[in-house]
Amino acid sequence: MTGNNHTPVTVLGIGSMGRAVAAAFLAAGHPVTVWNRSPERAAALVEHGAVHALSIEDAVAASPVIISVLTGFDATLHALAPAAGALAGRTVVTLNSGSPAGARAVAAWVTARDARFLGGAIKNVPAAVGDSDTLLYFGGDRANFDATADTLRVLGGEIVHLGPEPDLAALYEAAVGATLLPALLGFFEGAAVLATRGIPAAAMVPYSRKWLQMIESLLPLLAEEIDTADYTKLGSSVALFHDSLPEDQALAAETGVDMSWHAPMHDLLRRAIAEGYGEQSISALYEVIRKPAA
Ligand SMILES: NC(=O)c1ccc[n+]([C@@H]2O[C@H](COP(=O)([O-])OP(=O)(O)OC[C@H]3O[C@@H](n4cnc5c(N)ncnc54)[C@H](OP(=O)(O)O)[C@@H]3O)[C@@H](O)[C@H]2O)c1
Repeated sequence: MTGNNHTPVTVLGIGSMGRAVAAAFLAAGHPVTVWNRSPERAAALVEHGAVHALSIEDAVAASPVIISVLTGFDATLHALAPAAGALAGRTVVTLNSGSPAGARAVAAWVTARDARFLGGAIKNVPAAVGDSDTLLYFGGDRANFDATADTLRVLGGEIVHLGPEPDLAALYEAAVGATLLPALLGFFEGAAVLATRGIPAAAMVPYSRKWLQMIESLLPLLAEEIDTADYTKLGSSVALFHDSLPEDQALAAETGVDMSWHAPMHDLLRRAIAEGYGEQSISALYEVIRKPAA
């Protein structure tokens, strides 16, 4: 590998994200080979200087760093299988989403072929690939990460090594991403509540922003309570949330907005009260959520 200066890279998969990844390497002056299941998608990148490999064997043979941006780990394994004999000595980097088990499966398969593996995730949209505040994190062998990091820095200004396990990025993706749907559902519910009075969703954006900033500011304290199993620091108790359940139900009745998705949250609050966490911080819900209901 030629270090930070224009290591040849192969990008497997030129969907939305793969295209952006390949374009960033081209813009930074790297020799770029692209491969895609549907070959017709390569034309635009070829115009910008990419080499289009028609076979996966040629794609793998072209570069010491192979970056897979296919939809998932199964697709990566499936795509790479015919090139198994060409992988030795190369580094395979995955940037797709998927389960930790999927990452471990690809890592095992790749390393069994005397190649190296870095399981990564890109924490931004395709349009932000290459931006200085775009974060990518990786799990895998530290020495291999160090050898590849300068090349990967083309994709974003913040390049983080999470640890030696190859599935860590997938694990963090699942953990960090867990807030997305509940947070969005809350926003959509709020918009529906306002709509019952003819108020547009845009009216609440400034206040929702402040609210999310407040929640963000609590994260270190919540994490400390969880990590120390000491749920006494935050003022907002489980009981406080539990006692507001009737208001929740009254608002659903008043507005006709479907709040049925609250039911499992209400169950968790009731379980927490039953298990004696009523006067503890709301972060004590962690103790309930991490074990199955009896
Ligand atoms: N887009 C985003 O905002 C974003 C952000 C962060 C992370 N990601 C992650 O990046 C990955 C790619 O996302 P994307 O948005 O680029 O998706 P996309 O536009 O749907 O592209 C998917 C790519 O995977 C290929 N593919 C799918 N199944 C395949 C298979 N079985 N064998 C070979 N190739 C296969 C597709 O090939 P064809 O062209 O032949 O269909 C295409 O190149 C996903 O894991 C996604 O979670 C995306």
